[in-house]
Amino acid sequence: MSSVPNIVFLNGQYLPVEEATVSVMDRGFLFGDGVYEVVPVFGKKLLRLGDHLQRLQNSLDRISCLNPHADAEWEAIFSDLLGKNPGEDRAVYLQISRGAYVKRDLTANAENPPTIFAMVLHVTPPDIDVVSAGISVITVDDFRWNACDIKSTSLVANVMLRQQATDASVDDAILVKNGAVTEGTASNVFIVKDSVLITPPTSRQLLPGITRDLVIEIAKNNTILIEVRDIRESELYSADEIWMTSSTREIAPVVKLNGEEVGSGVAGDMWKCMMNLYQQYKQELRRK
Ligand SMILES: Cc1ncc(COP(=O)(O)O)c(C=O)c1O
Repeated sequence: MSSVPNIVFLNGQYLPVEEATVSVMDRGFLFGDGVYEVVPVFGKKLLRLGDHLQRLQNSLDRISCLNPHADAEWEAIFSDLLGKNPGEDRAVYLQISRGAYVKRDLTANAENPPTIFAMVLHVTPPDIDVVSAGISVITVDDFRWNACDIKSTSLVANVMLRQQATDASVDDAILVKNGAVTEGTASNVFIVKDSVLITPPTSRQLLPGITRDLVIEIAKNNTILIEVRDIRESELYSADEIWMTSSTREIAPVVKLNGEEVGSGVAGDMWKCMMNLYQQYKQELRRK
């Protein structure tokens, strides 16, 4: 048994994880009919909670599901949950499914209560030496649907794409649709070319990452040139640097792409600069 308490939130109750159960008729289980969020926590501070709650609202709107709580209520739930699961660097995982129906039926019924589940993930702070060793990735065909802006719990396509990377003995995959880069299997993609940072615009082909937004904001505040535009797959091969960003991974430098070195084959200077600025941002958040 772990010595760390694992108290989760399920439909209004705080329970030890082993006591938290959901019906087999839950649409999250039967159809993956739900949405989720992962909010990083540094000290006691939630990173960009407002942006995460806005994205949650967008995901719920897109699947025509009512938001069961106002933002202030979510904040209170997360704060209680974090109080019951003490620690330093953590993340709050929140999932809302459309709930359990009596019959297995695709038709959604707005009257049916959702299933609301949240837990605290314990996160190991990134070891800069390990992170700066970089990751190896392959490019894969992005065969996903035209609704990747929804942070949906239906993740079977992402699992299949990640499996292609695992089968190729690399860390991750960069997804390419019709010759353009969309994102990673669970991250957004940036490239650096001639000191300009470039990332694809948000669309239904990719998740609007909160880390992506933060990296863009940090770049703008520090006079780093940034272009938000499509990236052709061919540009990956001539990029000076490639990064993959997410709440849990932060900013990972890609050092190998399809077996070839990216740039000089080590984490680049622009990555070092951005990673420092990102860590400073986290430190300031902790102190607030
Ligand atoms: C498909 C996908 N794209 C991008 C991201 C990055 O989003 P964020 O920076 O909000 O973690 C994630 C995060 O899990 C993801 O699953």
